[in-house]
Amino acid sequence: MKQKAWSGRFKEATDKLVEELNASISFDKRLYSHDITGSIAHAMVLVKAGILTEKEGKKIINGLKAVEKEIAEGKIEFTAEMEDIHMAVESRLTEKIGPLGGKLHTGRSRNDQVAVDIRLFLKDQIFEILHLLHHFRQALVDVAEENLEVIMPGYTHMQRAQPVLLSHHMLAYYEMFVRDTSRLIDCLDRMDEMPLGAGALAGSPYNLDRNYAAELLGFSRVTENSLDSVSDRDFIIEFLSAASIMMMHISRLSEEIILWSSQEFGFIELSDAFSTGSSIMPQKKNPDIAELARGKSGRVYGNLVSLLTTMKSLPLAYNKDMQEDKEPLFDTIDTIKALLKVYGPMLKTMKVNRDRMLRATEAGFLNATDAADYLASRGVPFRQAHEVAGRAVAYCIEKGKTLEGLGLDEWKSLSPVFEKDIKEAVSIKRSLNTRKVYGGTALETVKKRLKAVKKEMSGGCC
Ligand code: ARG
Repeated sequence: MKQKAWSGRFKEATDKLVEELNASISFDKRLYSHDITGSIAHAMVLVKAGILTEKEGKKIINGLKAVEKEIAEGKIEFTAEMEDIHMAVESRLTEKIGPLGGKLHTGRSRNDQVAVDIRLFLKDQIFEILHLLHHFRQALVDVAEENLEVIMPGYTHMQRAQPVLLSHHMLAYYEMFVRDTSRLIDCLDRMDEMPLGAGALAGSPYNLDRNYAAELLGFSRVTENSLDSVSDRDFIIEFLSAASIMMMHISRLSEEIILWSSQEFGFIELSDAFSTGSSIMPQKKNPDIAELARGKSGRVYGNLVSLLTTMKSLPLAYNKDMQEDKEPLFDTIDTIKALLKVYGPMLKTMKVNRDRMLRATEAGFLNATDAADYLASRGVPFRQAHEVAGRAVAYCIEKGKTLEGLGLDEWKSLSPVFEKDIKEAVSIKRSLNTRKVYGGTALETVKKRLKAVKKEMSGGCC
């Protein structure tokens, strides 16, 4: 059996069960290329410090590149015996280039090594996610543009409230995902610190040029405190919380997609390619993707809570508990990437049932506020105007009428302030188009916002 890198002080071999439990290789193998990138930079720093000769440095770096190739080609079978990706890479390197491989770990610990690996990995992942988010936002913009003038009921308390444009509704989500984007960018900025040189916890006794390592690895600065460098996982937690907020937004949109595609609403129909059927009920066409997105938000929140809980009582500095940071992180990344990839195409292929949406605005007195505003803009105190409009609604309910269908005499009997133009004032289109305030749902306003949004989008993903 192979000797462990840390076996010097041990007399007995590790128990097999301990080995299994202790190992992280089954999941942290995913960090291999970032681990090797970090190691190459560390080797260059060691050369600069005079700890390795140029020749040794070259040999180590070439060896590392060869190991990376082997792993990429699936030639290395990872086993629990290897413990983690850091040990696996180092031991394969030593197999290839001999005892010189053992010099690579000079001035370094797995504690600062893993801290740099995850940062490098997560930075790359966030860029990928930002890119996917950009496409997803584009899909929202496209749906808004294609359905610019489609009118639908806007809801409060899940009750029909006032008419809005579907494009306005879609752009509401666009705004949420813009904030999600900026949260991820903030998160990138805070994690942009290079921890190598912190060693196990107290810093390195070697003359390591940490700024050189930062430059080689594309970090804009080095970490300030060695203890913090190896024990900080708040950059992962911050990412998980940004991801959770984003999932909450995806989940809210999903809830609407699910409702809108129900027979009760009938506002949209998802394309067959993005729906699934039932194994027993032949008539069913289910919005499974939206349901899964809603369901997976729970899983991502769980990942956030899992790592917060892992970290909350850990004394400084590194503790093995922190090995538990990776699975929630990887799972979150995989979940949001898979969803973001499918969600835009699902939205873009859905069929919008314009008539049904419009008809839904015609029942439910969505223009009652407009009747009140009509009076208020003619000097009636809003509270009183609200009361009169309420009586108008009650009257319509009793008579089985709509506000648009009332005659002037009926309006007059409710308030003498009503004139002929009340009919126009309570038309759904007008109700909508009077909401010209900045950020409102009037067609003119939404058109302007859409134009600005398209300009924003042309600026790229981040
Ligand atoms: N596999 C470990 C982790 O992910 C690497 C760091 C181990 N450090 C140590 N001192 N045992 O946390």
